[in-house]
This record gives sequence, C-alpha cells and structure tokens, in this order.
Amino acid sequence: MATTEPAVPSDTKTLQELARRHLWMHFTRMGAYDQVEVPIIVRGEGCYVWDEHGNRYFDGLSALFCSNLGHGRADIAQAGADQAKELDFYSTWSYAHPRAIELAARIASLTPGDLNRVFFTSGGGEAVESALKLSRQYHKLTGNPNKTKVIAREVAYHGTPLGALSATGITSLRTPFEPLTPGGCHVPNTNVYRLPEGVPVSSLAEAVRDRILFEGPETVGAVILEPVQNAGGTFTPPDGYFQRIREICDEFDVLLISDEVICSWGRLGEYFGSQRYDYLPDIITTAKGITGAIAPMGAMIVSDRIAEPFMHGDESFLHGFTFAGHPVAAAISLATLDAYEDEGVLEHVRMHEGALRDMLESLRDIPIVGDVRGAGYFQSIELVKDRDTKETFTDDEAEVLLRGYLSGELFRRGLICRADDRGDPVIQLSPPLISTPEHFEEIEGILRPVLEEATRRMDVHVG
Ligand SMILES: Cc1ncc(COP(=O)(O)O)c(C=O)c1O
Repeated sequence: MATTEPAVPSDTKTLQELARRHLWMHFTRMGAYDQVEVPIIVRGEGCYVWDEHGNRYFDGLSALFCSNLGHGRADIAQAGADQAKELDFYSTWSYAHPRAIELAARIASLTPGDLNRVFFTSGGGEAVESALKLSRQYHKLTGNPNKTKVIAREVAYHGTPLGALSATGITSLRTPFEPLTPGGCHVPNTNVYRLPEGVPVSSLAEAVRDRILFEGPETVGAVILEPVQNAGGTFTPPDGYFQRIREICDEFDVLLISDEVICSWGRLGEYFGSQRYDYLPDIITTAKGITGAIAPMGAMIVSDRIAEPFMHGDESFLHGFTFAGHPVAAAISLATLDAYEDEGVLEHVRMHEGALRDMLESLRDIPIVGDVRGAGYFQSIELVKDRDTKETFTDDEAEVLLRGYLSGELFRRGLICRADDRGDPVIQLSPPLISTPEHFEEIEGILRPVLEEATRRMDVHVG
C-alpha cells in the first residue's frame, strides 16, 4: 500500500489496527478479531512472554513447540549477529559455507546410526516435502519408479506444502486444497486410549503392513511417522511398535521417515525421538528446536545408505530452497546445540519429566479429564464428557468448550497452551525445556480451576 504515514506503529491502538488491517495470521479466524483484540506478544524472557499491555504469560507451548531454551537468549542471538557481520548470506546451492558444513557435521555426530547426510531447509514442512521427494527420486534411481505412495497416520500433521499435506491426516486441513499430491495413504494412529475393546495393540503396526499389501508393495515408497504424534494429543508408541514398523519397511523396501520436527532437540529428553524409542529411521525430518526458534531452520537428515545413489557421477537431488542452511541460522543453531550440551538441557528434561507428568496426573480427579499422555516435555490431557464411557464432545460442544471457554480463559489467567480438537478435544503442553517443577505448580494453579469450571459448564458426567 502506498502511504505517506509513518510505517512504525507507536502505540497499542495503532498496532491493533495495523494487525487487523494488514497481518494475515496463520491458521487463524481473522474475523474473530473484529470483536476481540489480536494477542500481540512483545517480549520474552526465560519461560515467560509479555503482551503489549504488560501482561505476563507462562509459555506452556514453547511458542509452537520450538522455543526450547525459553526466550531472551541474547548470547545465542549474538552468535547470529556475529555471523551476519562475517558472512551475511550465501546459499547451499552449488556452494558451501563454514557454518553449514560445521552444523551438518555436528548434527551427524548426534544422530542415531548412519544418518550422516544433512540437507537443510527453512522449516519443518519443507523438510517433510524434501523427504517425500527424496523418497520418490531414490526409488527411481534404484530401479523402482512406481514406489511413489507414502503411508502416514490418521490425524497426524506433517506440514502444509501440497506434498506434505498429502501425508497430513487431518481431513479439515486437506479438503480445501484438493486434489492433493497423489499417493497419501493413512492408517490408524497409536491412540491406545480409544483402541476398540478386543483389538490388540499389535494391530497398530500391522495396519501399516496391511496397507502396504493393499496398495501393492511396488507402489509404496515411504512411511512417515512422528515418534510421538502431536495432533490428536501426544500419542506415544506402544512397546515394540517402531521395531515392528522397521521390520515391515525392510521387508518391502519402504523408507522409514521419522518426522521429528517437534520430537527432536530434547523435547523427549534425547536429541532425537527415535533414540528414545530405539529405532533407526532412514530419514529424520527436523526443524523448530534446531535453533531454539531464534532463527528459522529445518533439516532432512538422511542415512548413508539412502544418500549413496545420489553421491556419484551425474546424479543430484533435484531440489532446494534459497535460504536453506542460511549462515545466520546455522550459527544460531550451533550456539543452540552448545547450550543444549553445556547446560545439560536433555538431562534436565529427563530429570523433571516425571514431575510434569505427576502434576498432570494429579488433575485426574476432575471429571472432564479423561486421559493424560505423552512423553518428555510433550504432554496432553484429553477432555471427555463421561470418563466411564469415554464419551467425547460433539463438534458443537467442542467448539463451545475449546474456543468459547478454555483457550480464552487459560490465556486470560496467564497460561499459553493449546486447546485443540483436530482429534478429540485435548489440552497440550510443551513447556520450554528449562522449566522446573515450580513452573509445573504454576501451570497446575491455572489449569485446575479452569478445568473444574469447564466440568461445570459442559455438563460433564461426574459419577
Ligand atoms: C510433525 C511436524 N511436521 C511438520 C511440521 C511443519 O513444520 P513447519 O511449520 O515448520 O513447516 C510440523 C509443524 O508443527 C510438525 O509438527
């Protein structure tokens, strides 16, 4: 817009007006802000952020599962500023630069097995998109040109690019954009809380095998799974699940992609979620905590075996992004990885994840709390209408519960977390990895009265 007015807003009212007029917020019902203020976060320090009115919030979501070290790490930001002075930007298309090289080697030293080849991206969706494309080109190169399909799980979120969206298993996010990239197939997720009676847990991994057979093994190129599935509410894998998935992938020459955009960099108390559950993927996709969210970055990490056919003669992976491996982001990532190591962040998560879980378990006396699940600093509470029967809320009721009450009330009381109904209604917590049991008490102090009030409002069976 051409304007002669100053572009820099000076006060809260101006920011609100400019946000309403010009900012297109992601996955956001913009119309809602005709009635209420846009929440504008202006500052962060440690586990807290402040809005433009000076209200303080505990960042129980680490922004979006990514500010793993909390906020306000001037020392890490400085590493980015120093890098910008030395080499502001060069790409990783045909060229390399020291920080991308050092970071790739550093990441390779932390990954499981032979996942030694790092292809940077600008974020998680691009990492997933890269993995799906790599799978297709890999199979073409190795004589299986029809292995183009990808198997993913229902309700899983793998990002928004059209290819990644074909793996994403959330119907409402897919239908507006159909037809999607062909090839996405879905199997049940590991929601054992809602596993029908009599259905063995082992059937969840076998569903992948059945689907491969149904589609035709010669057409299936990859399986993509999160170590702990976020959407639906932190579904953890049953014992042996990933070991069986690995066997199935090997049986049919299908690549196992571990989508660790959230589940890496300490979120589950290990550098990589696959390490926690002791399986070896062919590809890991990551982003978010790779830079502690101080700069945007993602990566696809590929095993030597899968990278091998691309490393000879005229071959190349015909794919790339201008800013992938940006030197400033890479310098920030290196400083972030130093902090994870020097400050014992993973050990801290392992030491305190039990306290986080105990706090959430202590809420089970509130009738609306149906299930508590998750791993590490990545936990959810599923909300139900009747705990005995596990009856869930209707769509309309979930709308009233989540958007009509919980989201706003938790925020008003100073807790940022996610009240979500991409599956059944859940509250998700993913606090900064530096948070302590004192913070968990603070979270409980907000969650308990709000869930008790939700129980009353929603006519929950208190039996
Ligand atoms: C498992 C998973 N994969 C992919 C993505 C997409 O990442 P991004 O939003 O950085 O594109 C996300 C985002 O939350 C995610 O959780």
